Amino acid sequence: PLRIAVLASGRGSNFAALLAARDRGELIADFVLVASDKPHAGALQLAQTAGIPTLVLDPHDYAERRDYDFALFDRIAASKPDVLVLAGFMRIIDGDALKPWVGRMINIHPSLLPKYRGLHTHRRALKAGDSEHGASVHYVTAELDGGPVIAQTLLPVEAGDDENTLAARLLPLEHQLLSAVVALIAAGRLSLGADGIVFDGQPLRKPLRW
Ligand code: GAR
Repeated sequence: PLRIAVLASGRGSNFAALLAARDRGELIADFVLVASDKPHAGALQLAQTAGIPTLVLDPHDYAERRDYDFALFDRIAASKPDVLVLAGFMRIIDGDALKPWVGRMINIHPSLLPKYRGLHTHRRALKAGDSEHGASVHYVTAELDGGPVIAQTLLPVEAGDDENTLAARLLPLEHQLLSAVVALIAAGRLSLGADGIVFDGQPLRKPLRW
């Protein structure tokens, strides 16, 4: 089975969804490591309970952002993962440090990319008056939230929505989206070639919809 390492900074509900998908038999993969920049990340607790090795590397212990990123990816590489999944990992990663992983690292981002790269995506979608919001899973490249988009889930914005209601309705859709994409990767159906994403042997012309 595919060997997956997960990077997470926060509560870890997306990682929990991946574990649940594995336990239901929908995702055939081995989780070899959960790594975090935050000692109290919920994902670490979940991993420990599930018997998955964890790694915490604190950025404060490194003088330079770059040094941290290289150290982190060195340590992750020692677990010999095939694929890295950023599931709420809230750091910008140095382009040189991530280079060896291009095509083998995906991220979930709470917007319909290319809209709203970076932070506060729900707030920005509301402010723009968007009638539709959503989340994207993309391959990670040196361009922040700018790598090729694999799949998206859509969410209608409702009258009276605020950041919190929007985030709360989007989250379960994110869980399905990320689980589905990771399952496709684990099944060998997705890859990143020189000309873009390949899905079931064909160039992917627009993001998959979930
Ligand atoms: C998710 O909403 C994810 O899309 C977002 O962080 C949340 C993590 O939740 N990711 C980003 O904003 C990446 N820049 P979780 O810890 O419960 O999975």
